[in-house]
Amino acid sequence: MFSYRHAFHAGNHADVLKHMTLVAILRYMAQKDTGFSVVDTHAGAGVYRLDQEHARTSAESDAGLFRLLAALPSAGTKPSGHASEVPALVADYVSVVMGFNSGGSVRTYPGSPWIAQALLRPQDKLKLFEVHPTDARLLERHVAELGRGKQIEVLRSNGFEGWRSTLPPPTRRGLLLMDPSYELKTDYAEVLDALEEATRRFPTGTYAVWYPVIARPESHSLARKLKALGTRLQKPWVQAELNVGLNPTEGTSARVAQGRAGTVLRASGMHIINPPYTLAADLRAALPWVQQALQQKTGAGWTVETS
Ligand SMILES: C[S@@+](CC[C@H](N)C(=O)[O-])C[C@H]1O[C@@H](n2cnc3c(N)ncnc32)[C@H](O)[C@@H]1O
Repeated sequence: MFSYRHAFHAGNHADVLKHMTLVAILRYMAQKDTGFSVVDTHAGAGVYRLDQEHARTSAESDAGLFRLLAALPSAGTKPSGHASEVPALVADYVSVVMGFNSGGSVRTYPGSPWIAQALLRPQDKLKLFEVHPTDARLLERHVAELGRGKQIEVLRSNGFEGWRSTLPPPTRRGLLLMDPSYELKTDYAEVLDALEEATRRFPTGTYAVWYPVIARPESHSLARKLKALGTRLQKPWVQAELNVGLNPTEGTSARVAQGRAGTVLRASGMHIINPPYTLAADLRAALPWVQQALQQKTGAGWTVETS
């Protein structure tokens, strides 16, 4: 049985990187009228409360979203300490998150399904895979509350396999987001296998994979193999990593890598195949600002590589 619950991690630094990138991709895709499909192979519960038990237990959003929000210049004041204008990608991500919150307090955090549903147009579709019994039930309930009928479908099945029934989408426009919990060592190989097959089946689709940067060989080799896959398939790719570093004296509240109790997640990456042509430049403009907002005492950094 899986033990990973995203409610403990919602709004952490890894979510900031992942969801900022997701917003950028979806905004770009929505520039053309033709409908597109979003396939989220590892959806989680969809939307999270930041002020309730799970999120408060880990307090990971304190070191992620809340630090980012604290670094924003408040209306009418000049940014202090944190120089320069807020990059467009950061501002857009923050506006999407704040769209789920009102009255000045931030209690709700949108997971990838919620960000996607907020940015869909009537002609777009969303397919959500989730296998954890509790999170799948929550996701179904949350989606039902939206009342969007067939536009959003929840599938309680293995996203590493279920995506086959969704691609290529009828309009030949689509994004597949793969964001496993990496609880199982086999997840690393499954990501690569699924991507290889999916990009052959639907070569013009956009593919986005989140991965942890942790001290285990599978993690290091995944980042490398993702780049090699894109190059072998002759597809353009962008790979972005954000490392928030660590705070040796106070410890860190950054996300603990799932299934590896005691392993602190300091860094993570997003690998995008067939990215919007604007994505690399937008990430390069945003990540220095994000790093400065989220960095702990030592070792923070960011990279954006392209094919
Ligand atoms: C990191 S969380 C997803 C977070 C979500 N994508 C977001 O950004 O809000 C990973 C989720 O994948 C689920 N999961 C694990 N293995 C799965 C599989 N083979 N198929 C579908 N879901 C799976 C877990 O239960 C967990 O809820």
